[in-house]
Amino acid sequence: MPTIEFENVTKLYGEDTVALDDVSFTISEGEFVILLGPSGAGKSTMLRVLNGLTQPTEGSVRIGDREIQGNRSEVGMVFQEHYLIESKTAFGNALSGALSRNGLVQSALGMHAESDKLTALEALQTVGLLEEAGQRAESMSGGQKQRVGIARALVQEPEIVLADEPVASLDPKAARDVMRYLKKAATEQDLTTITSLHQVNIAREFGDRFLGIRDGEVIFDGDADDLTMDEMDRIYYGSTQDDTTIPTGTTTKEAGEADGGRRA
Ligand SMILES: Nc1ncnc2c1ncn2[C@@H]1O[C@H](COP(=O)(O)OP(=O)(O)OP(=O)(O)O)[C@@H](O)[C@H]1O
Ligand SMILES: [Mg+2]
Repeated sequence: MPTIEFENVTKLYGEDTVALDDVSFTISEGEFVILLGPSGAGKSTMLRVLNGLTQPTEGSVRIGDREIQGNRSEVGMVFQEHYLIESKTAFGNALSGALSRNGLVQSALGMHAESDKLTALEALQTVGLLEEAGQRAESMSGGQKQRVGIARALVQEPEIVLADEPVASLDPKAARDVMRYLKKAATEQDLTTITSLHQVNIAREFGDRFLGIRDGEVIFDGDADDLTMDEMDRIYYGSTQDDTTIPTGTTTKEAGEADGGRRA
């Protein structure tokens, strides 16, 4: 039984912008999926639809056997901007992930169950920051903050974690660290994880499965071995990319054949 099911999902913004165009796929429990695609392809829209932050114009999205309607507490989100409270400690920020389970009033009063505090400490341990639990966010590096953001999502006790370009503003080493901890958390807690990434090399190191999005459509679905240079070209530049390399005077038909030969 798939955990996540997109069925003929179309999302229009206004009347003209087709952000998702009749998208269907399923993701099984525990898969670590990475979304690749050029800017404007529809990656964030896909994640937002999945979290219930955006409603599809047509089609349905299911998690388990339930259709998504409204914000889902079983879906944890990690963003490019970490949205931590800078003056709070790593522990305080992680603990705020319990908010969606406990309700606003309890959380506003600072009433957290001992079990939540334990969960927050465990989450910080999962992302390698237990010793930094008492450190304020403002004094942490970008990579550490992102790991606190992951911990906060884990404290929510989600079934699914969605991460929208979680390492976009980090240097390659910090980015790898964050992805390593995200993958570790996903493996340890058997989470289904979907992450959008622009850093293809890093994506290849961590993804079990890749969805290539272009113009609102899923045009690639496979593992790292399937993700050849040609497929990358197709995802990022479109199949017309090859036309630019056709020598002048070659007919379109010949070009198609030559291209087929190259790909074979
Ligand atoms: N709130 C919105 N209102 C109108 N159009 C939107 C909105 N959000 C996204 N779009 C449009 O929908 C399309 C898909 O955008 P989306 O943000 O999902 O792409 P993306 O793949 O996440 O891109 P990026 O890699 O730049 O983050 C784009 O054409 C974008 O301009
Ligand atoms: Mg985006």
